[in-house]
Amino acid sequence: MNSWVDLHTHVLPGVDDGAADVDVSLAMLRKFRDDGVKTVVATPHFLHPHFKVSLELVRDRLLRLQNAITEEGEEISVCFGAEVRYRSDLASNPELVRSLTLNETGKYLLLELPFQFAPPELPEVVFALLSQGVTPILAHAERYTDFQESPELIEDLVRRGALVQVTAGSVVGQLGRREKKLSRWLLKRNLVHVLASDAHDPKVRAPGLRKAVQEAGGILGKEAAVGLVQDNPTRIIAGEPIPRHL
Ligand SMILES: [Fe+2]
Repeated sequence: MNSWVDLHTHVLPGVDDGAADVDVSLAMLRKFRDDGVKTVVATPHFLHPHFKVSLELVRDRLLRLQNAITEEGEEISVCFGAEVRYRSDLASNPELVRSLTLNETGKYLLLELPFQFAPPELPEVVFALLSQGVTPILAHAERYTDFQESPELIEDLVRRGALVQVTAGSVVGQLGRREKKLSRWLLKRNLVHVLASDAHDPKVRAPGLRKAVQEAGGILGKEAAVGLVQDNPTRIIAGEPIPRHL
């Protein structure tokens, strides 16, 4: 039996550019379930300039969705998370950082960077978060222009203690050639810790990890590939350490 966890999704209704309402959320959840996912981490954009999202809003929508799941009798669970937009002063508010950690364990933060350039002070921010006991996970690390041009920047951040999430659609080539190339580069070097869908809707940016796991299995072997959607994200939402290669 699969007990896969999708660690990066925009499944909450009416919060950001993800699910528009509860019906769309439920349609997404049925797709997650059919793909073998048992736990979905809802990670709406947070501190993002385009979306005004508060903790109260996220908690309210999470509760609404959990109630709808119970009413529909769906066998899938959704837990709290956030995709936190990078700010150079992020670590200066440890209480906020803690409140935004995945499944509220205080241990892991899904961190989204600006797409065009890697912030020069990023290594210091990674260090500051780690010294608060919070491990940053670089959200869709394969999608940033600077990283595509200089992938060794990711390797350096992993050596410093950051983790890497790669998007399933990138691994299978749905998000572009450069994204696929960097995904494979990272997988070959054991620099990927989590594969996640970053699903926004049921059809276009849709749930689905299975094809990416298959593709990754061709590089890492099946067991290690499944680890990226099962063992590692399960430990992350439990707030436990995960095995690292660097
Ligand atoms: Fe996202």
